[in-house]
Amino acid sequence: MKEMLDKIREQAEKQIAETVTPESLDEIRVSVLGKKGELTQILKGMKDVAPEERPKVGQMVNAVRDVLENSIAEKKKELKAKVIEKKMESEWLDVTRPGNRTVRGHKHPNQIALEDLERVFIGMGYEVVEGPEIEYDRMNFKLLNIPEDHPAKDEQDTFYIARHDESKGETTEDDIVLRTQTSSVQARVMLAAGRLKETSKGFPERSLPIKLISPGRVFRSDEVDATHSPSFHQVEGLVIGENVTMADLKGTLDQFAKEFFGPDTKTKLRPHHFPFTEPSAEVDVTCFKCHGTGRVKKLEEVKEDGKLVRREVDCACTACKSSGWIEILGCGMVHPDVLEMCGINDSSNPDAPVYTGFAFGIGLERVALLKYEIADMRLLYENDIRFLEQF
Ligand code: DAH
Repeated sequence: MKEMLDKIREQAEKQIAETVTPESLDEIRVSVLGKKGELTQILKGMKDVAPEERPKVGQMVNAVRDVLENSIAEKKKELKAKVIEKKMESEWLDVTRPGNRTVRGHKHPNQIALEDLERVFIGMGYEVVEGPEIEYDRMNFKLLNIPEDHPAKDEQDTFYIARHDESKGETTEDDIVLRTQTSSVQARVMLAAGRLKETSKGFPERSLPIKLISPGRVFRSDEVDATHSPSFHQVEGLVIGENVTMADLKGTLDQFAKEFFGPDTKTKLRPHHFPFTEPSAEVDVTCFKCHGTGRVKKLEEVKEDGKLVRREVDCACTACKSSGWIEILGCGMVHPDVLEMCGINDSSNPDAPVYTGFAFGIGLERVALLKYEIADMRLLYENDIRFLEQF
C-alpha cells in the first residue's frame, strides 16, 4: 500500500512541477484529490483493508493528501504570480506618452469664400437675409419679369415640386419649384417692404431702404461637369432706395472686387440681358493671376549644355485664357416692372414716391474656384479629405 501511495505522490508531484497553467494544475488536483481521484478511490477501498491496518492506511493517505495539497497550493501561487508578471509586461502604460490628437474639422472652401464675401458686404452696411429653397414659381420667375413662356425658364431647367392645375381641382395656389436662383429673395423682400406686403407670405416685414445680400443654394437640372452641378450656391445682392444709381452699383462692385480678390483688382461692366434688370451687365474682374496682362511668368526646367537649369519663361495665363479678365457676376438696375409688380413703386398714383435700386448675383462656387485656383467644381462636393485639408 505504501508503495502505491508513494507512486501516486511521486507521479502527482512530477505533474505539478511540470504544469504551466492554472487550468492544468486544477485538472491534476481533480484527478488525484477529487471525488473520483486516485487517493479518494483508495479511501473508498478501505473496506478491503484489514481492520487493524485501516488507521495506518488512513494516516498514510492523509499524509500524501497533505503533501499534495501543499504542493498544489504552492504551485498555484507561483502560477498566479507568473500570470500577473506577464500581464505587467504586456499591459504597461507610459504616462509620459503624448495623448492621441483628436482630428478637428475645419471650414469648407465654399464656406470660407462665403464668410469672406459676407464680411465685405456687412462692412458696407448690408444685412444678410435667407430665403426658402423650395419656392413659388411667382417668386422665382413671374415677379422677376419671367412670365410663363419666357425662354429663361427653359434655360434654367427647373425642378418642379408641384404643378398648379386648377382644372384638376388642385389646391396649390402656384407651381412650386426648387429655386433656380437666389433672385427669388428679391421678390420676397420687396413684397415685404412694399404695399403688397401680405403676398410675401410670412417673410419678415421690412422698410426702405433695402440693402441686403442673400446667400443660398439653388437647383437646376444640369449635368455634372467641371463647371456645372444640379445644385450650387449664389449670393444675391439687392439695394432699393431713393436715388440709387448705376454709379452706386459700379462703386459697390469695385469695392467688393478689391476687398475679395486684392486691392489692385479692376472691374469692367459688359452689357448683358437679364429679365429682371434694365440695364443689365456682366461684371469681369482683372485676372488675379496675370493682373490683367494675359501673360504670366513661369519657371521651367530646360537643358542647357547638357545640364538642367531653371529659367523664367513667358506663358499665356490659363486662369483667364490670356484675356486678362474673368467674369464673376451678373447685375443691373432693378427693372421698373419688377419694382411695380413687387409693390415698391405705384405708377397709378402720381403722388407716390419713385424708388430705384440695383441687384447682383454672384456664383459662390465660381468665386471660390477662382480665389483658391481650383480647376474642377466637383472637388468642392466630393468631400475628399485630402482636398479639403488644403484650406
Ligand atoms: N439670377 C441670375 C442667374 O442665376 C444672376 C443675376 C443676374 C442676379 C443679374 C441678379 C442680377 O440679381 O441683377 O443667372
